[in-house]
Amino acid sequence: MKRVTVPMIRRQKNQNKIVMITAYDAEMARILDDTGVDIILVGDSLGTAVLGYPDTLKVTIDDMVHHVAAVARGSTRCLLVGDLPFGSTQISGAVARQHAVALIRAGAHAVKFEGTGRLESIRELVENGIPVMGHLGLTPQSIHALGGYRVQGRSASERDSLIDAAHTLEHAGVFAIVLECVPDQTAEAITRAVSIPTIGIGAGPSVDGQVLVVNDLLNMNPVFKPRFVKQYADISAAIRSAVSAYADEVRTLRFPDPEHSYRDDE
Ligand code: KIV
Repeated sequence: MKRVTVPMIRRQKNQNKIVMITAYDAEMARILDDTGVDIILVGDSLGTAVLGYPDTLKVTIDDMVHHVAAVARGSTRCLLVGDLPFGSTQISGAVARQHAVALIRAGAHAVKFEGTGRLESIRELVENGIPVMGHLGLTPQSIHALGGYRVQGRSASERDSLIDAAHTLEHAGVFAIVLECVPDQTAEAITRAVSIPTIGIGAGPSVDGQVLVVNDLLNMNPVFKPRFVKQYADISAAIRSAVSAYADEVRTLRFPDPEHSYRDDE
């Protein structure tokens, strides 16, 4: 099947909604590829969803490379985007470039960059053939500066600043922008203001596409239920029930049964 490409995503502006979802391993990537979603994001949500950190700030480029490579081994169809982790864009343009190259070498087709710092780096990456996805609104790598996980862009002045930031990113060459936790009206205004697709998470229905963290939509962590997440399955309940049944059958000598054992006379 044909691979989804950056130009294909650009052309989806004002056309079909773009569907993006995170993944962190090869098995999940294989399943997501089969479902027909457009983009797999190996997000730095890796830190909270998989590595057990309280936020995304401890995720390193080595962590990202490891998981981008795993996802790339499992996917043949989706566009793969790798997140530049904290420390990539905050330190120097050289670090941003090195980290972007490492993610592309690991198998990503594009990198995601939070905020509008180091615009020069975004331009450089784009000019050198590395597609960049932007990320505005709630940018979790700036959580200490933002003062917590809060909806951004509520006031008219915040909305105007986000529209300016989106224009800035568009002119720097990003091919799409994630809008995280902004009111519907702000997301709609940004979406109308730029000619590249916007992909929302907690940004309402007026954007050009949606992204969710796979663990959230599958309810892997029942205590994490932000308002913008819809749980389409209860995988944590399914795992608990399956593993309890397995443990019970092992302890009561019902597993393995003849159907799941080898015999030397067959
Ligand atoms: O890291 C991530 O998964 C993300 C999405 C929430 C957009 O940045």
